[in-house]
Amino acid sequence: MQVLACLNGETMPVEQARVPVWDRGFLFGDSVYEVFRMYRGRCWLEREHFARLRRSLKELDFPPYDLDALAERIARTIAASRIHEGTVYVQITRGVAPRSHTFPDPPVSPTELIVVRPYDDGPTERLRATGVKVISHPDLRWKRCDIKSTNLLANCLALETAHRAGCYEAILVDAAGFVTEATHTSVLWARQGRLEATPEGPVILPGMTRHLILRLVEALEIPFVGSHVTLPELKAADEVILVGTTSEVVPIVQIDDVLIGSGNPGPIARRLWNAYRQDVERWLAGAAGTPQ
Ligand SMILES: Cc1ncc(COP(=O)(O)O)c(C=O)c1O
Repeated sequence: MQVLACLNGETMPVEQARVPVWDRGFLFGDSVYEVFRMYRGRCWLEREHFARLRRSLKELDFPPYDLDALAERIARTIAASRIHEGTVYVQITRGVAPRSHTFPDPPVSPTELIVVRPYDDGPTERLRATGVKVISHPDLRWKRCDIKSTNLLANCLALETAHRAGCYEAILVDAAGFVTEATHTSVLWARQGRLEATPEGPVILPGMTRHLILRLVEALEIPFVGSHVTLPELKAADEVILVGTTSEVVPIVQIDDVLIGSGNPGPIARRLWNAYRQDVERWLAGAAGTPQ
């Protein structure tokens, strides 16, 4: 089992992967990425992640990209790594060209990086049982958070502040006082038996886990509604829940110094987590589950 990189089609131990200093991903963050979760060596929600990647590339006006060939390289790297429980990181930059804000003309070959590495869910699993504390933090990001670009400095600053405060995540609050999402997870909340979340648009990333959860709640007969909440309204919700590719489903029990609900993980979070796990298991068993 080895952390493997596949850089521009060439597989190697990740420590050996090198990118030129003129790479636009390095210089400008001119790149997009995806993180896939692997269960038993298979990429979960693969088709959806590819659809989001295709959209990110299009929104940033990248030249046409052969995603079928990328899928083959991902499969090859996973097989070579022999990792079963892990993540696949994929990053595509606009390529290598002398530093200039304008795009290379004619376009150059993009840089493609795939990294397959193990992921241990143990620590998060323990937090799932107790629930997590989070902080609130100003949302300092740009105005196209719907694009999964590697411009993550504002996310990093907020998460670092959270970690220094002993917290799992930072809930981001925009200039008008509304909650958007968290630094690397989507935020859902429950009020009066209904699940709610910020409607999709440029202020949040369209999360794959959130999409899945919104499909699962239909079967659970939990009503869902898109809505905007202020931070005080979020703190007054019955439950607040984080969802994401690596976190999966994590209940929040405290935001800043305010307990959420009873201060324990709530029943909706538990139902969502059970439904999520069951869907993964169904998919792994090759039965109906979520269409892939
Ligand atoms: C800002 C942000 N929101 C939400 C998410 C959750 O998205 P997904 O469920 O696709 O992992 C992520 C994941 O990286 C993220 O970076």
